[in-house]
Amino acid sequence: MTTRAVVIGAGHYLPERIVENAEFEKTLDTTDEWIRARSGIERRHFAAEGQTTSDLACRAARNALADAGLEPDDIDAIVLATSTADLTFPSAATMVQAQLGMTRGFAFDVQAVCAGFIYALTNANALIVSGQAKRVLVIGAETFSRIMDWTDRSTCVLFGDGAGAVVLEARNGSGNNADRGILSTDLNSDGRYRDLLYVDGGVSTQSTGFLRMEGKEVFRHAVEKLAATATTALDKIGMTSADIDWVVPHQANIRIIKGTAKKLDLPMEQVIVTVQDHGNTSAASIPLALSVGKQRGQIREGDVLVTEAIGGGLAWGAVVLRW
Ligand code: UT7
Repeated sequence: MTTRAVVIGAGHYLPERIVENAEFEKTLDTTDEWIRARSGIERRHFAAEGQTTSDLACRAARNALADAGLEPDDIDAIVLATSTADLTFPSAATMVQAQLGMTRGFAFDVQAVCAGFIYALTNANALIVSGQAKRVLVIGAETFSRIMDWTDRSTCVLFGDGAGAVVLEARNGSGNNADRGILSTDLNSDGRYRDLLYVDGGVSTQSTGFLRMEGKEVFRHAVEKLAATATTALDKIGMTSADIDWVVPHQANIRIIKGTAKKLDLPMEQVIVTVQDHGNTSAASIPLALSVGKQRGQIREGDVLVTEAIGGGLAWGAVVLRW
């Protein structure tokens, strides 16, 4: 008998304020056409004044718990992926724990920027497989609008705020690929590329700082590394892209998403795409896409999914699961 971490619920939350590309034309030398053509983004959501990452995370978590038919005290652990925690410490995860009224278990943040949810899922899977937790709430939540340089047209038009969450539960499986749950994971990072995408502030500068990105270079790494990590994760369990029902990619740029699908030899009809409505929500983008894909009726129980992401670090990885 093998223990599997099975997704039993998904949910998301997007802040009310929607900003269309055209709004940036008022303050920047940019156009709706350029943003759509170069990134596929049409609009994004921005958090209201005072609305924090843990607020968004908590709303997504409640929706995921409702979808799973569970209460906060049914959960043993919260793993929250974010690079925009409300404060330097404590973790946003403990803030969510308190907001949910959860008085048992444990909660912690994972920081791997846009690959954060892949890292969080991998950690949560390990907690379940090793018997340390039976049910884990895995959240990706971000307020990247707080770290945008609004004068930098090459970055500020790309990002958005939001949160998504899934509930993982320990279930018995047979140990083969027919099991529901997480089947394979692959994590990578290479700190030599840390200057390609970073925030120029933090504890060492006593300021929050702004996101800085060498977009073209990150793009080049993304197309090459995302297909490679997805293929490695599939290889580990003797699967190929022919076994996949859905690719659920990090939503940074439609051209990266299409390039990766092409490398995996999969048509866009098998890719969950939300980038046009959410922009790049960093660690929130994959759980948002999972929840939206489920709500749209695209992702169904028994489907094989590959999720993949890359971001600052560089850090990247993939998870294969049967929904
Ligand atoms: O989530 C973490 C991972 N991040 C990513 O995956 C992002 C990866 N990178 C990208 O998605 C793309 O590189 C971008 C969307 C950021 C940029 O697209 P690009 O095709 O690589 O454009 P570029 O940076 O080469 O810029 C082309 C031109 C430049 O002008 P020149 O030098 O050719 O005269 C830029 O200055 O477009 C200019 N440009 C803009 N023009 C209008 C840059 N930003 C804008 C803008 N509006 N907002």
